[in-house]
Order: sequence, then structure tokens, then C-alpha cells
Amino acid sequence: MVSRYVIAIDQGTTSTRCIVFDQAGRLVSVSQREHRQLYPKPGWVEHDAAEIWRNVQRIVPRAVAEAGIEASQVVGIGIANQRETYVLWERSSGRPIGQALVWQDTRADALVDDLSSHADAKDVEARCGLPLATYFSAPKLRWQLDHVPGLRERAERGEVLFGTMETWLIWNLTGGVHVTDVTNASRTMLMDLRTLRWSPEQLDFFGIPAAMLPEIRSSAEVYGVCTSVLPGVSITAALGDQQAALFGQVCFAPGDAKCTYGTGSFLLLNTGSEVVQSTHGLLSTVGYQIGGAPATYALEGSIAITGSLVQWFRDSLGLISTAPEIETLARTVEDNGGCYIVPAFSGLFAPYWRSEARGVIVGLTSYITKGHLARAVLEATGWQTREVVDAMNADSGLDLRTLRVDGGMTSDNLLMQFLADVLDVPVVRPMVAETVSLGAAYAAGLAVGYWADLATLRQNWHRAAEWRPAMAADRRAEEYDNWQRAVERTFGWIKP
Ligand code: G3P
Repeated sequence: MVSRYVIAIDQGTTSTRCIVFDQAGRLVSVSQREHRQLYPKPGWVEHDAAEIWRNVQRIVPRAVAEAGIEASQVVGIGIANQRETYVLWERSSGRPIGQALVWQDTRADALVDDLSSHADAKDVEARCGLPLATYFSAPKLRWQLDHVPGLRERAERGEVLFGTMETWLIWNLTGGVHVTDVTNASRTMLMDLRTLRWSPEQLDFFGIPAAMLPEIRSSAEVYGVCTSVLPGVSITAALGDQQAALFGQVCFAPGDAKCTYGTGSFLLLNTGSEVVQSTHGLLSTVGYQIGGAPATYALEGSIAITGSLVQWFRDSLGLISTAPEIETLARTVEDNGGCYIVPAFSGLFAPYWRSEARGVIVGLTSYITKGHLARAVLEATGWQTREVVDAMNADSGLDLRTLRVDGGMTSDNLLMQFLADVLDVPVVRPMVAETVSLGAAYAAGLAVGYWADLATLRQNWHRAAEWRPAMAADRRAEEYDNWQRAVERTFGWIKP
């Protein structure tokens, strides 16, 4: 019998990868390409959507060739993507209009300030489950419609289309299907979290023409068939990358949680079929929706800068030449020497939501070496996770008992031990660390009956590593206090 496979495309913030998986959830081949990060002005972050599409055109055939399989053996393609980042393009030519605006871009900060003062701002936040912040698509889309001459009129006439990155890729792969899934739509601020439809009130508040929006579909169903790259193969799933990781970590039951350590880090807790409204600075979001089944919701603690702080340490400061070297450098010293780095490069996300905050390094003395700075870089990820876990525990009324982790930074043992120490719970990593791609593949396979049900997928999860807490309680409390004092120094740096 001919073996069959499922393909995941993970369109992330720094790179796009394609992974072929087999029915046991094992990785068969991988192909990856980075794309440029464009910083035209302080606070602006852009990607070239055409470059990303070209990368997809290269990596998918390469992954298929490396797996030694034919397109006819692929049961479906699942797409996971950096969320909130979007691009506009011309319906007639498919050409992007300007660059994609990335989730980290803060150009709409003054607009967000202004919108926050409107009388109905709180209703708007409650309807979509998100606080008003530059992070999400709608404020930046409004900014673009206000600043690009003629754009609003063209959008109203239906000549300009909006899409988050999965929408852009599906459009290109299928030659013109304009759809998104509920998880991605839930990050725009334009969808009603309960009806799972574009909300006329939200569109009105942000001034967004409905004609430019894609159709909202579930996370796992046939959206269309590829006309290029892998002609004839169906696209059968799409999820925001963090929701895909929740799915790949088989967090299917209410109370299951995972944290993915990539450019930023995102802790998601499955809250079941009910929307839980946070009172501690977390987001309410859609976890996934498989075909016609009811949606599963999640609470999310989003941290903007974790892995990208290591990248900054490498590329902008030049203190290491590869990311893994940070662990070696950090091990040259015993502790942080009293130094703390709060990387509020795009403001602070959960649980603060302060767009005007900017990063600080505090506690500098002549004693501090680059080893201490390396420790402070890694520790920033640990403390930021602690803050969202505290918020999660307060919102859910339960104490997290273990944290499932995945993503690139989980190969750093010093960081993973620090994480267990500051959270005071065991941290566990599964055998397949590529959980974003795995989750997209799982959803794609479920949509076409390649996997029968969630129970089958659960059997594929195996523990690969575990770190247990070892830090004394008084030291943990003192360090956390220092961290929180450092965080306060980031507030209000950008003047209104
Ligand atoms: O919300 C932003 C998030 O989806 C980005 O994830 O892994 O591409 O940095 P990542």
C-alpha cells in the first residue's frame, strides 16, 4: 500500500518552514527559509509578503522531494502562521499594496491612545476578547486606511483585499480563494468572539470596509485546492501559530496549557467551549474549531520579546555569533550580578498592555560583564513567563501544575531550569518540539480523516525532557521583586 503524508507550512515571524509528517506524527523532512525583517522607522516592523510567497514556492517542493514522496501521497496541507501580521493586495492583480505590517509594529500607538478614550472602547474590547493595543491588526489597518491616499475608497469598492498571512498564502496557492480561519480572525479585533463572525460594531468602531475582509471558516476543513506549488493537493487546515502549538501539544482538555518559546512567547490555556474574560491582563481567544464542531476557547498570555532578545544580543550588540552561544556565555558567571533587562521593545504585552513602555537595562555597575548580560537576557524570558502564569492562575482560580513547553529556546537548558525555578513547577518538553507545524498537520489530517479523532493524536505525545524546580523560595521572591521594580522603569517612556 502507498504511504500517505500530511504537510505543514509554518509561516513564522522570522522564517517559513515546510514539514512533511507521517501518520505517527513523526517528522519526515523539513525545509526552511528566512525572510528579511524591515525596520523603516523606529517602532515600524514590516515583511515583504511577495518574498514570503516566493519562499513558500521554494520550500514546499524541496520538503516533498527530500521526503522522497509524490504530491499524490499528500492528504492535505495545514498552514500555521504568525498571527496579527497582515498584508493588503489588489484583487485584480494579486499584487501586494505596500509591505505586510508585522504584529510587533507600533506605528498606531497614538491612534490606540485615541481609540481607548472612546466611550464604547470597553465594549469593543469585550466583544473581541482583546485589549486595544498596536499588537492586533485592526488599529494598524485603520492607520493604513487613514494614511495611504485613495486606499479607503479602493477598499470600499472591493478592489483591495485584507489578509493575515494564512489568507495571503491560501489566496496564492489556490489562485484566488479568500478565506481565514476563526483563530486568525480572532486576532484582528474585528471578529465577535461569541458569534465567530465579523462584527458590524467592530468594523464601525475601527472604520474598516467589510468588502476587504475574507470569509471566516473553521480551522480544519477543505478551503480549496492548490493550483500551483503542489497542484491538486487540498489545503485543509489553518490556525494561528500559537493555537497550532496548543493543538500540537494535544492540549485538548480545559485546564491544559502550553508555552511556545519563539521570537516572542505565548502561553495558552484551554478554557473549553466557554469564553473566559480575563481580569488580569490576559487575552481571550479562539483555541481551535475542527470543522462543524463548536469552537474551543483559550486564555492567552502573550510576551512580545523573548527569542528576539537573543537575536538582538547576537545581531545588534554582536556579543555572540550564534543564538545557542548565549547559554555558554551565561554559564561563565554564577548569577546576573544584579542586572536585569526588560525588553519592552514593542511596549509591554501581557499582563501590562503598555504600548508606551520601552526597554531598560538596570543595575549596571563596573562589575557587570557580558556574561551577566547574557544571564539577564535569558532570565527576562523566565520572569515574563512567571508574570503571565501568575495572571493565568488568578484568572482561572487554579494553580498551574506543570508547564508544557516547545519552540527554539527550549533547547537552552539553563533557561529551562531557570523557568522551572521561577515558576516553581516542573517544565516538560515533548519529543516533537516542532509543535506549531505538528498542530497544523494534525488539524489538516483530521479534516480529511487521516487521523480518526483527538484520542489518536494524544497517543503521539511523548515526554522528552523535564526540569524540576530547585531555587530556594526566598531567593525566588527577592529576584522577582527586583524584576518587577525593573519593569516599572519601562512605563511611560514614550510621551503621549
Ligand atoms: O502573535 C504573534 C505570534 O503568532 C508570533 O509567533 O513564533 O512567529 O514569533 P512567532
